[in-house]
Amino acid sequence: MTVQPSRRTVLKGAALAAAAVAGGPLRVFDAEAAAAPASDGVFGYGVASGDPTADAVVIWTRATPPPRRPGDPVAAPGSGLGQPLQVHWEVARDASFHHRVGHGHVWTSPASDHTVKVDVRGLDAYTRYWYRFRAVGQTSAVGRTQTAPDDGLLHALRFALVSCSNYTGGYFTAYRALGRRDDLDFVLHVGDYIYEYGNGADRYGPLALVGTRDGVPATETIDLAGYRLRHALHKSDPDLALAHRRHPWITIFDDHEVANNTWAAGAENHTPGTEGDFALRRRQAYQAYLEWMPFRLPDQQAVPHQGTRFFRRFTFGPLGDLSVLETRQNRSPQVDVPPFTSTGGGLIPIGIPAVDAQLADPARHLPEPEQLGWLADGVAGRGRPWHLIGNQVILTPVRFPGAVLGAPPELTLVNSDQWDGYQADQAALLAHLGAQPPGAGDVVVLTGDIHSSWAMDLPASRSDPAYTPVGVEFVCPSVTSDGFYELVRAALPAGTSVAAAVATTQGITATVAGANPWIRYLDGLGHGYTLIDVTPQRVQADYYHTPRPSSALPDPRVDAAVEPAYAVSWQTVAGSRRVSAASGPVGARGDEPAEGRVIGRSMAGTAAPGG
Ligand SMILES: [Fe+2]
Repeated sequence: MTVQPSRRTVLKGAALAAAAVAGGPLRVFDAEAAAAPASDGVFGYGVASGDPTADAVVIWTRATPPPRRPGDPVAAPGSGLGQPLQVHWEVARDASFHHRVGHGHVWTSPASDHTVKVDVRGLDAYTRYWYRFRAVGQTSAVGRTQTAPDDGLLHALRFALVSCSNYTGGYFTAYRALGRRDDLDFVLHVGDYIYEYGNGADRYGPLALVGTRDGVPATETIDLAGYRLRHALHKSDPDLALAHRRHPWITIFDDHEVANNTWAAGAENHTPGTEGDFALRRRQAYQAYLEWMPFRLPDQQAVPHQGTRFFRRFTFGPLGDLSVLETRQNRSPQVDVPPFTSTGGGLIPIGIPAVDAQLADPARHLPEPEQLGWLADGVAGRGRPWHLIGNQVILTPVRFPGAVLGAPPELTLVNSDQWDGYQADQAALLAHLGAQPPGAGDVVVLTGDIHSSWAMDLPASRSDPAYTPVGVEFVCPSVTSDGFYELVRAALPAGTSVAAAVATTQGITATVAGANPWIRYLDGLGHGYTLIDVTPQRVQADYYHTPRPSSALPDPRVDAAVEPAYAVSWQTVAGSRRVSAASGPVGARGDEPAEGRVIGRSMAGTAAPGG
């Protein structure tokens, strides 16, 4: 997120003091901190599942081999230590494993950081399953997962949309709330699952959590050991572990899984002189991501691609599809306008001919042309009600009036890290949506990145105030990362009341919404998640937010007991291609997946070790 480029100015005295201690020399492997969850048994990092299809799901764990002799170092994540280990897995139709439908074993080793992934195939459609792992006499927690509907039967769909879970930004109570929900088909995470920052001068998040919720490793993640450790830190968070254990996840990275505002060959937060080769750093970040996430890569041989093909499509029977985009690996460099931004893009002024020409240059791309073509094909003409798009950065054109950003009031700015920075791709996609005939199905774009909640019509053209809507975009709040309110608070003079900071934030978001006729809703206060409920008739988005900051609780993220609560609902009705108000939160589900039944179908377990 780059709403304001000065996140480091949030830092004040106490954090700087902590930085002097915690920052220390660069690249220290924090074996003690890393070993803490690993010492909690073989399966101290929990279990997870992901990428559900009608007949398969990926199950995941990390199996820490016990020391050979007392006193040997623990094979902590990122350490490269520990012997190869055989891990047994099993999948059943019931939580007590009376009706087992598949089992097998895989080997893991330091080559995959002792992570384990099994792509379990031959499962029944839209059915709930339980899974667990066993190694060296220990058994993991039991995970629950489920498959997707197949082509034969129409099911409603309900899932949570999340993004931007900065560990040092607050407690993951949004994940705890998801873990407690019993009505989700899956969790969709659209990026910034981890952040790369350290605990020193680059610390990102409220000072109140210094010393109680620190990053591991303590320094910025720039190599394989660092990224592995940061992923392990997240997997050892009890709230996140619960959400993984209870639901399958569909995930895609954004920039912070590597470094802030990445593009194909660099990033805002990468300094080649001191942080090495960006291509090597990114390769190691991707390796750690694939090891530690329940993510299924397509067969790279069968689907050749520029780099690694991370984008993929999920199908939910007659209801529609979900295309999950990946918009970092091959993107052109962001447009920079010094002194507004110097590298990696951000909020830049428009209306300057040379800048506008760069923004509209058809040779510049956000997704590479192959992916944009794949998306266009997926959207076109399948005759089913919905095409959902999991997306990293806002697609809808958004103009920021200069005055709300502390820039000269005559200026208008755009975020050049969003689709607004790649206007040829943006225009092509919006025009393609507009060209879809009635009855072809409607598009709902699901986005994160900007640490705030939005509901928007997608306009056919970015320049037409009397626009034709061609679809909608729902943007979820961050789990914990700083949003408009935190940035406003940091920018206001010390001693400003919380009420004044809230009012200023609301003034800013109202002004931004007012400057863009297609913005129907914008909240810059709450953190949490968005519940997405899909029926043939409509797609509804229920926003769940932390409470409005008050003098008693100026930053709800630092209170581990405060969970997000229902705030507001928006929807899009089939055929309307625009946002409308919804009357209230969705109710109980009408069609739960099959559970506990033994249908007697044989299953071929296909095992693939992680890495
Ligand atoms: Fe983020």
